[in-house]
Amino acid sequence: MIDKIKEHITEVEKFNADTKEAIETFRIKYLGKKGLLNEFFAEFKNVPNDQKKAFGQAINTLKLAANEKVNLLKETLDSQTEEVGKYGDLTRPGEAMALGSRHPISIVKNQIIEIFSRIGFNVSEGPEIEDDWHNFTALNLPEYHPARDMQDTFFIQTDPDILLRTHTSSVQVRYMENNKPPIRTISPGRVYRNEAISARSHCFFHQVEGLYIDKDVSFADLKQTLQIFTTELFGKSKIRLRPSYFPFTEPSAEVDVYWGLKTESDYKITKGTGWLEIGGCGMVDPNVLTNCGIDPEIYSGFAFGVGIDRIAMLLHQITDIRLLSENDVRFLDQFKSTL
Ligand code: PHE
Repeated sequence: MIDKIKEHITEVEKFNADTKEAIETFRIKYLGKKGLLNEFFAEFKNVPNDQKKAFGQAINTLKLAANEKVNLLKETLDSQTEEVGKYGDLTRPGEAMALGSRHPISIVKNQIIEIFSRIGFNVSEGPEIEDDWHNFTALNLPEYHPARDMQDTFFIQTDPDILLRTHTSSVQVRYMENNKPPIRTISPGRVYRNEAISARSHCFFHQVEGLYIDKDVSFADLKQTLQIFTTELFGKSKIRLRPSYFPFTEPSAEVDVYWGLKTESDYKITKGTGWLEIGGCGMVDPNVLTNCGIDPEIYSGFAFGVGIDRIAMLLHQITDIRLLSENDVRFLDQFKSTL
């Protein structure tokens, strides 16, 4: 009898199963109400007294072994199911990640940088939170100058000297303070103005301003540079400079490109004139050069500024400027560029 129990112990130790059902069958076979263990326990009373001790020990060992085995197999099975749940099916092919696209503002900015880099301009950057000196005073706009109202400014409430830059001309001031002529630089960046938000204007937008300072720089150089720029960017080479006023340039002009009047949309965007304004320009005022440590007796220069948002809207037929800052992927997805 004891030998039979021992055989069962070996059998139990060897047993293996990886399904719930097989484990349950095994459990019932040994530990169930009508299982082998209960059968052996029932035999106990028939065992001669001198063998009772060894018999009892053998049944207990078998019971322990069967219990341990059932628990171990259940645990292993549970941990395996958990792993599968945790990582899913590891052999499944991966899901393709959606690729982003460059923002239209970045695309146009990079196009402009590329055009100017071909004619020797580098790129300069500066802070969006500026001080009064770099945004206004150094640019020939002293305190209380009425022209400060041309650009509705966001001031930092606790310090009227600190503001959100209203144009990237502030970067040009920084560049002139830190570099000696010849200077050929463009400053792209975000600017802020306290304007009501509508389809045509926003309280922040983007500019590229250009600055060229050297000996004998003339208005003709300015016009030629703008001509190259508009031809390269729009494929339209006819431009006109309309006299205007900026405190930091003298003389100053507004830059118009001849867009044409071929289609209905040409009429719309040029308000029926065929001409489209793209920015401002002029010869750097001698006061500005002096403020930035450059001698106006030796050097002269020109500056210009264009709006990137405006150009992006033109090139991509975007009718509402707000689309450029709403981050709607359905809109952004349409732009693909390697630039
Ligand atoms: N800074 C001007 C603006 O933001 C644009 C400009 C730049 C005009 C350089 C003339 C020369 O409106």
